[in-house]
Amino acid sequence: MSHNLLKGKKGIIFGALDDKSIAWKVALESVANGAEIILTNAPIALRMGSIQNLGSQCNAKIIPADATSVSDLENLFKTSMEEFNGKVDFVLHSIGMSLNVRKKRSYTDLNYDFLMKGLDVSAVSFHKMLQVAFKLDAINNFGSVLGLSYIAAQRTFPDYNDMAENKSYLESVARSFGYHYGKAKSVRINTISQSPTMTTAGTGVKGFDAFFDYADKISPMGNASAEDCAKYCVSLFSDYTKMVTMQNLFHDGGFSNTGISQDVVDLFEKK
Ligand SMILES: NC(=O)c1ccc[n+]([C@@H]2O[C@H](COP(=O)([O-])OP(=O)(O)OC[C@H]3O[C@@H](n4cnc5c(N)ncnc54)[C@H](O)[C@@H]3O)[C@@H](O)[C@H]2O)c1
Repeated sequence: MSHNLLKGKKGIIFGALDDKSIAWKVALESVANGAEIILTNAPIALRMGSIQNLGSQCNAKIIPADATSVSDLENLFKTSMEEFNGKVDFVLHSIGMSLNVRKKRSYTDLNYDFLMKGLDVSAVSFHKMLQVAFKLDAINNFGSVLGLSYIAAQRTFPDYNDMAENKSYLESVARSFGYHYGKAKSVRINTISQSPTMTTAGTGVKGFDAFFDYADKISPMGNASAEDCAKYCVSLFSDYTKMVTMQNLFHDGGFSNTGISQDVVDLFEKK
């Protein structure tokens, strides 16, 4: 679906690993809406994933950057501005990883080196990315920056583990940096809190199928897909949402405001 909402706009998209990635869909939807984009991911992901295919589909240059490395981020923003012949209009941060989740450490037996690494990759990287862009003055006035979050930042989902704290930090950075970047340059910063989605990062969480089905049954509209998330991102990159900033925006088919649904009642009444 294209309404050319991003015609003439230039963006950087972090985190497309394969065709299931939310960032992959955002890249396609942004280009379908007239944007010119640059793709980036960690060097190892560039070797392992299929981002080159996306690059050709989107006619996009791919610039490697480990999002925890300030020098990689500086190179990314500088090279992007050269490529675009000007500043950037939108940025998507679609990055998440917990070593404790990967190594199956329970929340009551966390490894703190793993915790620090996961925090850096999933959340501090959002601040690093914003600080680099801010110092380089790399984003146009009324530009839009988005991070992707999950409702475990507000409510406990036991197996989401230390990713819950990472998402809380991410959402807080959107508010705090949103203040400073809004004041200085009218750049808006928001997070989208997305439904469980079948991706590499998502399915790495223990019990993910149950998360997914439960959310689908509770949400009056069912889970929001990655494709729908991409459309929402495009609307938030567009000029139609110029004054939306410092928000955590639920994109979850109504999950966050539902106590119980008829589907779940039916499930238990059958017992
Ligand atoms: N899948 C879900 O259920 C779900 C729900 C809500 C929010 N999210 C969030 O959406 C975002 C995207 O995840 P996804 O579900 O599309 O999974 P994904 O696995 O496709 O994407 C995660 C990306 O993070 C990248 N990454 C990891 N370490 C990096 C580093 N050091 N530098 C740069 N990039 C790095 C990976 O290479 C990968 O491309 C994440 O923030 C995730 O937490 C996912």
